[in-house]
Amino acid sequence: MTTDTTTQGTAPDATTPGETILDARGVTMRFGGLTAVRGVDLTVNSGEIVGLIGPNGAGKTTFFNCLTGLYIPTEGEVRYKGKVLPPKSFKVTAAGIARTFQNIRLFANMTVLENVLVGRHTRTKEGLWSALLRGPGFHKAEAASRQRAMELLEFVGLAHKADHLSRNLPYGEQRKLEIARALASDPGLLLLDEPTAGMNPQETRATEELIFAIRDMGIAILVIEHDMRFIMNLCDRVAVLVQGEKLIEGDSATVQRDERVIAAYLGEPFEGAPGEEEAAEVERAEAQAEAQAEAQAEAAEAEAAKTEAAEAPEAEADTTTDAAPGKENDR
Ligand SMILES: Nc1ncnc2c1ncn2[C@@H]1O[C@H](COP(=O)(O)OP(=O)(O)OP(=O)(O)O)[C@@H](O)[C@H]1O
Ligand SMILES: [Mg+2]
Repeated sequence: MTTDTTTQGTAPDATTPGETILDARGVTMRFGGLTAVRGVDLTVNSGEIVGLIGPNGAGKTTFFNCLTGLYIPTEGEVRYKGKVLPPKSFKVTAAGIARTFQNIRLFANMTVLENVLVGRHTRTKEGLWSALLRGPGFHKAEAASRQRAMELLEFVGLAHKADHLSRNLPYGEQRKLEIARALASDPGLLLLDEPTAGMNPQETRATEELIFAIRDMGIAILVIEHDMRFIMNLCDRVAVLVQGEKLIEGDSATVQRDERVIAAYLGEPFEGAPGEEEAAEVERAEAQAEAQAEAQAEAAEAEAAKTEAAEAPEAEADTTTDAAPGKENDR
């Protein structure tokens, strides 16, 4: 990078079209007995927006954590532009991968601008002594960082709130601020974990436009989202995770019409699906319980009929005795 005041519109870490930016192979993450991610392969090429979808608990965030050095995968390898990533999140950010979080992680008591400046620290060359002595080099670098941070706030539409405390921003704007902070590290790949969660349809549409604009800056994108319309509009390719395994990957149309994907979302098992055996077992147990309940209901009904038959002559006699004129019509 030659300057801190890169004009908005180009990523300093921009890549050549078609180049493989992210190459994850056989990524597995186990927590004790639970395998949250199992042998997942995924690539993202430059200029692409790739979607990662799957039901709750499918392992999407865990996979992101494996890509960004928060978790060290139990097995597998992650390469960024051909180089194996170091197992530390700040080193991954320095290498060129930035992310936002499913549960927003901002510094609540810092201003909007300060939050973006924090995101820039991996790109500031000025060291500790320079910061302490506050020499001319430090002031120049600081001014450049502020300018870049303001450009990014402008880009996401938050420049007018630069001095507000981040905790006072509405939810949708906090998500935008997280994106600005991620962009501040000049990434070549941006990972977004549910960027539209909690947004209204208007904000969601604006976020869609924002992501297209980021892609046009030369930054590849991998995005997790539950909003299917958003994902299908946005993504060049979509991968589906189910119970930690990649079920299918393809363009939006292919993924949308795949009956295994539909089944996974509706919770219906399909042949060869991960967890199929367990689902079949649950189904058998449910069928058995239903049959048992039916048999019990039938037995109770038969019992009731028997009792009724035994009491019937008396009851009939009662009705005849009590019957008043006109009562017949009320029944
Ligand atoms: N640190 C951890 N320790 C133990 N288990 C974990 C840990 N992180 C995630 N898991 C488990 O891994 C599985 C996958 O969780 P993950 O958060 O990756 O799912 P997800 O696809 O992001 O779901 P959602 O759509 O709800 O965000 C879950 O069963 C979860 O409980
Ligand atoms: Mg998640």
